[in-house]
This record gives sequence, structure tokens and C-alpha cells, in this order.
Amino acid sequence: MAESSKTATLTIDGQSYELPVHSPSAGPDVIDIRKLYAQAGVFTYDPGFTSTASCDSTITFIDGDKGELLHRGYPIDQLAAKSHYLEVCYLLLYGSLPSAAELEHFENTITRHTMIHEQMHNFFRGFRRDAHPMAIMVGAVGAMAAFYHDSTDISSPREREIASHRLIAKVPTIAAMAYKYSIGQPFVYPRNDLDYAANFLHMCFAVPAEEYNVDPILARAMDRIFTLHADHEQNASTSTVRLASSSGANPFACIAAGIACLWGPAHGGANQACLEMLKEIGTPDRIPEFIARAKDKNDPFRLMGFGHRVYKNFDPRATVMKQSADEVLDLLGVENNPILATAKELEKAALADDYFAEKKLFPNVDFYSGVILEAMGFPTSMFTPIFALSRTVGWISQWKEQLGDPQMKIGRPRQLYLGETVRDYVDIEKR
Ligand code: CMC
Repeated sequence: MAESSKTATLTIDGQSYELPVHSPSAGPDVIDIRKLYAQAGVFTYDPGFTSTASCDSTITFIDGDKGELLHRGYPIDQLAAKSHYLEVCYLLLYGSLPSAAELEHFENTITRHTMIHEQMHNFFRGFRRDAHPMAIMVGAVGAMAAFYHDSTDISSPREREIASHRLIAKVPTIAAMAYKYSIGQPFVYPRNDLDYAANFLHMCFAVPAEEYNVDPILARAMDRIFTLHADHEQNASTSTVRLASSSGANPFACIAAGIACLWGPAHGGANQACLEMLKEIGTPDRIPEFIARAKDKNDPFRLMGFGHRVYKNFDPRATVMKQSADEVLDLLGVENNPILATAKELEKAALADDYFAEKKLFPNVDFYSGVILEAMGFPTSMFTPIFALSRTVGWISQWKEQLGDPQMKIGRPRQLYLGETVRDYVDIEKR
């Protein structure tokens, strides 16, 4: 990081401290408080990291007010329209768009790592049939560290690269196997003649008893869903991956930690929760009742798929996702789909409501993704695993960036302690 010429002054009890201010290539300035405790003996307090940059990064930039999402500088709408998932993976991992030869080599490498160790099949069979696929994914991805010992040495750049490729290649296989296991069907091996998205659909929907032909339009829609979820800078799961990695943990353990964090309904679990909510609403006439509940301070209900910590205007991923939903439902001949009709009416009603306008709550990426995935034939329990497999490249790129950062330290937040101060132990008979 370059030396900073700007400073900020903090005054505590009449004593002033000069703090360096760093100017980013985009976004607000950042006050550097790393030496604050040593100089002033105070901590800062920011639960939820609403005003705290936890690292510097060159991968993804979001301007929440403008509704802008850039990967290595390229706008997400351009990537969704002109690129495809594996090219975006390359971009995130290596920093620039690949040449034709680089892309071919990368696609070959990923395609040839999609099978998982055969012994891992036994591991799957230990789960209950009704296990949530996210539970299986946390376990199976963490267990990769037990199968791929030759890519756990984080001090070796080559081992780091092999781990990156293995994770991007194998997580879809693991997600598809979790699905197949839950419905009692045999695991379907990956096919090297199919592209990344088509192969995932094949592993989820093919059966040995008959031929399965992947519809190229559905494969394209699947690829777009992957692309739209590929990275999102320092969100909860990515920060979890970085924090786990800061202790020197192996890559498979770090990604398993990210998957665990993503599972929650405020994060990646929102796509499942959103579709369940749309089904519960059922018909557009019940929308006012649910809007009223979302606004009621005494009701914990929130409109799932609405709101975002960073986007305060619109989520650019939601715009593309909405178009995709129309295209996919059209293709599948799902006319007058009641869930899509409810989603569209709900969006309209919420956007016209003062509560949502004042709090800058707009549909996020999860609002329409569930509608598409359901139309494709995925059960709601598979929505978050699909988010997880798409985000794996983002986690891996951020993990790789962090390990290459000479300033890396173990992540160790401080606290504002409000508990008891020292007191003497009381023997049990005297309590
Ligand atoms: N429905 C109703 N009210 C809401 C909603 C919502 N979906 N989201 C936020 N609010 C209200 C909230 O009650 C609060 O009101 P007040 O200021 O009166 O207390 C205000 O808006 C600010 O909310 P917050 O929880 O302080 O905001 P946050 O930045 O901490 O939370 C969020 C962001 C995404 C967790 C939240 O908007 C939410 O829970 N949304 C629903 C879940 C969801 O769709 N999550 C997917 C996020 S996008 C995919 C991903 O990146 O994971």
C-alpha cells in the first residue's frame, strides 16, 4: 500500500492523534487505525463491520448507491451478457481476461478435475437421506483435505493453484451428488465433453436408465446464475473464508467455513427462504398482508430477497436475473406461473411502499434466482448449494489474494467488554 499524504485527526480527552487516510481507486477514503491502540490505548467499535474495511483487495468493487458491481473493473452486466462462468473464474483468479489459448488451457484443467476421489462416495452414504445438501457440502468439502494431501501446503504456490482448480472443478460434483443422494438416485459421473454448467445439469438430472440431453438455453441460464454469484467482495462468507485462512488453515477447511456461513437465511440461504415465502403468499391478493407483516416492528418476518447491506439503489445482479427468469419460463412454456406472478406483484407493491423506499430496500439477487431454479426442476434445498458452488471461485480468489499479501496477520478482533470485572469464586454450598 502506498504512503498516504492525507490524515485524519482524532481527539480523545484533549489529546490529538494523526491517522493516515488511504484513497482507494474507487469508493470512499479509509482511515487507517492499525496503530491506534498502540498510540492511544483505545479500540474502535463496529459490530457487523458497517464502517470497517477488513483488508485491501483488487478483485471486486461495489458501488451500492449506483448499483454497480465490477469484477477486476468489468461491469457484471457486461460479463453476464458477453462472457461465461469459467472465463469469469479465470478473471477473478488471475486478474485479467484470458487469451483464447489461456482460456482453453484453464477450461481443460477444470474439466479434468471434476471427478472426486472414489472413496468419497462412501463418505456421502454416511449421511441421512433427508440431510440438507448444505450440511453434506460443509462436510464433504471439508473432507477434501483428507483426500487431497498434495494440495494443502499453503506455502507452495503450485499447491495453492492445484487446490484452487480442484475446488472450482469438484464443488459442483459434490453439490450434484448431495442432490442425487437426497432423492435416492445413483450418483452421475461428470462428462468431459460438456461445459461447466451443462455438466452440472447432467450430474443433477441424468439417470443411467435413459439418455439425457442438456438444453443449451437452460445451460446458458445456469451459467448466468453461476456468473452472477461468482464474487461479491467482503461479504459474510468471504470474510469467514479470510478469517479461517488467516490462521493458516488449509484451503478445503477455509471453503467449508465459507459454505457454513453462506447457509444462513440472511445470506445465501435467502434464495430458499424467498421461494418458500413466495409459495406461502401463494396468490397476489395476499401480498398486502405480508407487506404489513414485513413493516411490523413486532413481527420478525422480513421480505426475503429484499434489502442489502451495500446496495441502496438496486442490485445489478437482480436486474439480469429478472430477465433470465422471463427467458427460462418462456422456454419451458411455464406460462402464468403463479410464483413468478406473485414475485412480480410483490416487487411492484414493495417498491411503491414508503417503508421500503425510505429504507432503500430493493429486490436482491435472490429474489428471482429461486424462480428460475424451481422452473429448471431444482428443489428449494438445492438453491443455496448452487449459490455455494458459484461463489467458490470468489472465495478462492480472495483466499489466494490474502495469502499473497505480505501484510497478512491472523484475524483477531477486539471487544467492548461489558461483563463482570474480577470477583472471587464462591464455594457451591455458599451460593
Ligand atoms: N424486509 C423488511 N424490512 C427490512 C428488510 C426486509 N427484507 N431488510 C431490512 N429491513 C429493515 C430493517 O428492519 C431495518 O429497519 P429499522 O432501521 O427500522 O430497524 C432496516 O431495514 C435496515 O436493516 P438492517 O437489518 O439493519 O440492514 P442490514 O444491512 O444489516 O441487512 C440484509 C441486510 C440483507 C441482511 C437484510 O436486508 C435482510 O435481512 N434481507 C432479507 C434477507 C435477504 O434477502 N438476504 C440476501 C442478501 S443478498 C444475497 C447475499 O449476498 O447473500
